[in-house]
Amino acid sequence: MSVTIVEHPLAAHFMLVLRDRTTSPATFRTVTKKLTTLLMLEATKDLSTRATSVRTPLEETTGRSLAAPIVAVPILRAGLGMLDSVVELFPEVRVGYIGLERDEATFQASEYYAKLPVLHDARTFVLDPMLATGGSASAAIESVKQAGAASVRMVSVVAAPEGIDILQRDHPDVDIIAGARDRELNDNAYILPGLGDFGDRLFGTQA
Ligand code: PRP
Ligand code: URA
Repeated sequence: MSVTIVEHPLAAHFMLVLRDRTTSPATFRTVTKKLTTLLMLEATKDLSTRATSVRTPLEETTGRSLAAPIVAVPILRAGLGMLDSVVELFPEVRVGYIGLERDEATFQASEYYAKLPVLHDARTFVLDPMLATGGSASAAIESVKQAGAASVRMVSVVAAPEGIDILQRDHPDVDIIAGARDRELNDNAYILPGLGDFGDRLFGTQA
C-alpha cells in the first residue's frame, strides 16, 4: 500500500479554505470539487492507455486514449461532494453508491445502502473526504471487493494516521491518495486539526 499526499500550492490553498470554520457551505462545495480534481489527477496518473490514431484537419496522427473503464464509488453522504469533479473529468465513469453512517457512540460504520455497477474490468476509486477511524472506508472497500472490484484506490481530502493504519491492515493492496495527513483523532473520533463534520459543512446541516 502507498499513501500519497498531494503537494501542490493550489491544493494547500483549497485545504485551508475547507479548514476555515467561517467558510460557507456554498464555498465549501465549490472548493471540495476543485480539490477533488487535483486529487483525482494524482489518483489516475497511471491509468492504462492505448495508442489511437486520429485525423487532424491537416493529417493523420497518433495519440493515446484511456483503455480501461473507471468506476467511482462515493460513500454517502459526504463523498457526494467529490463526485461532480470525477464525472466532469471522466464523463464515461460508472458510478456506484454506498451509504454508511458512523454510530456517534461506538464510531462503528454500518451500511444502509449499496448500489454498484460492474466492477471486475474497471479501476475503482472509492471517494470519502474523511478517513478518520477508517471504519467507513474499510467497510466500503470490502463491499466493492465482494462485488468484484479487483483494482481499488481510496481518495480522501483528509486522512488520519489511525485510518491509514486500519486500511493498511484490512486492505494492503489499496493505495490512498489524500490532500492532507492530519495529526490524530480526538475522543469523539474527529480528525485534528481536521475540518469538522464534512457532511454537515457540505450540506449545511450543522446544528
Ligand atoms: C463521516 C465521513 C466518513 C466517516 C469517516 O461520515 O463522511 O464517511 O465519517 O469516519 P470513519 O473513518 O471513522 O469511519 P458520517 O458517518 O458522519 O456520515 P455522513 O457522511 O452522512 O455525514
Ligand atoms: N467524519 C467527519 O466528517 N469529520 C471527522 O473529523 C471525522 C469523521
